[in-house]
Amino acid sequence: MQRVEKWYFGRFGGRFVPETLVSALDELEAAFEASQNDTSFGAELDYLLKTYVGRPTPLYLARNLTADWGGAKIYLKREDLAHTGAHKINNCVGQALLAKRLGKTRVVAETGAGQHGTATAAACAMLGLECVVYMGTHDMARQQPNVQRMHHLGAEVREVSAGLGTLKEATSEAIRDWVTNVRGTYYVIGSAVGPHPYPKIVRTFQSVIGRETRAQFLEIESRLPDHIVACVGGGSNAIGIFSAFLEDSSVRLTGVESGGESLDCGKHAASLTKGRPGILHGALTYVLQDEHGQIDITHTISAGLDYPGVGPEHAALRDSGRVRYVTVPDRAAVAAFRELCRKEGIIPALESSFALAHAREIAGSMSGEQAIVVNLSGRGDKDLGSVPSHED
Ligand SMILES: Cc1ncc(COP(=O)(O)O)c(C=O)c1O
Repeated sequence: MQRVEKWYFGRFGGRFVPETLVSALDELEAAFEASQNDTSFGAELDYLLKTYVGRPTPLYLARNLTADWGGAKIYLKREDLAHTGAHKINNCVGQALLAKRLGKTRVVAETGAGQHGTATAAACAMLGLECVVYMGTHDMARQQPNVQRMHHLGAEVREVSAGLGTLKEATSEAIRDWVTNVRGTYYVIGSAVGPHPYPKIVRTFQSVIGRETRAQFLEIESRLPDHIVACVGGGSNAIGIFSAFLEDSSVRLTGVESGGESLDCGKHAASLTKGRPGILHGALTYVLQDEHGQIDITHTISAGLDYPGVGPEHAALRDSGRVRYVTVPDRAAVAAFRELCRKEGIIPALESSFALAHAREIAGSMSGEQAIVVNLSGRGDKDLGSVPSHED
C-alpha cells in the first residue's frame, strides 16, 4: 500500500481498515476539512461550547495543594466542570455536528469509563440523533452511574461481554457496527485513536483546552507555565492541552499512563512505556502485546485508562522526545484522589488522579516561582463505587 503522508505522525498512524470503510473515511475527511473552513460551522460550535458545554472552563490555583506539596504552584484546568463532567463533551459536540453535516441520522460510540458514552448520548439528544453506545461488561459494572445517565439521555447501551469486557472490546464492537451500517451511521470515536482522520479530528476538537489554558495562564501569570501534566488513556485530553504548547520548548509536557498494580508483574495499562509498535483499531501505534503479537491484557483501577493502545500522535511525540511519558501506580492515583477531595473540595475522576499524583511527585523539586498545570480531565462521581470513602 502506498504511504499517504498526511495520514501519519512520523511513522505512526495511517489507515489499516477494511475496504468497506475507505470511502466513509474519505467522506469524513472531506466533511471535516470543509467544516474547518466554514465560518458558520465554527460559529455554531463556538456557540454550543459556550452555552451548552459551559466553556471556558476555569484555571484554578490549588492553594492548599501548593502549600502542602511545598514547591511549584499547582493549577488545575477544570474540565470536570464541563457539561456531563469531562473533556469528552468537547469532541462529542464537534463530531455530532459533523454527523449532521454528513446527513447521518444514527450514531455509534464506544465507551470505557462511560464519560464518552454519556457525552455522545447528550450531544445526540440535543441534536436529534439516534445513539447506540457499546460498553464492556466489566466497565458497566464499575461505572454504573454513567450507564444510568446514558439511558436517561435516550441512548441504547449495548453490553460487550467478549474478552475482558473493557474498552478494547467495546471499540471493536462499535467498529463492527459501523462497518455494517456505514451508509446512515456516524462513528463518534472517543479518543485521539483510530484510522486517519480520527486522531486529527479529535485533537482539533480538544485543542480548545490548550488554547484556553494558554490564554488564562498568560493573563494570570503574564508568562507560560513551566510544566503541563495530563493523564493518557487514548490520549485526547493530553493532546488537547499539549497542542497549544508543543512549539514552546520552555514548557515541559508529561503524559501519565496507569502503572496499575506494577509494571513488573504485567498488570498495567502502560502502552507507551511497555508497548511495541503494532496495529490496533486501524492505526499503527504503541500497543501492549505478547511475544506472538497478540494484544495483551490490561489492568488498572481506572476504566478510562484501561486500553492497550494509544493515539498515534503520542507515539510520535514519545519517539521525538518532545513529550515525556511516565507511569503512576493505581495506589498513588487513589491517594491523590483522596488528597484533592480533602484539601480542595474537588472530587476528581480516577483518570485525572494519575496526572495529579505525578504532579505531586515533581512539585517538591520545583521552586515557588514555578508552576505546574494539571489537566483535571473529569469529575469523580462515577468512581465513588471504586474508591472506598475511608482509608483501608
Ligand atoms: C475523565 C477522563 N479522563 C481521561 C480519560 C482518558 O481518555 P483520554 O486519554 O482520551 O483523555 C477518560 C476516558 O474515559 C475519562 O473519562
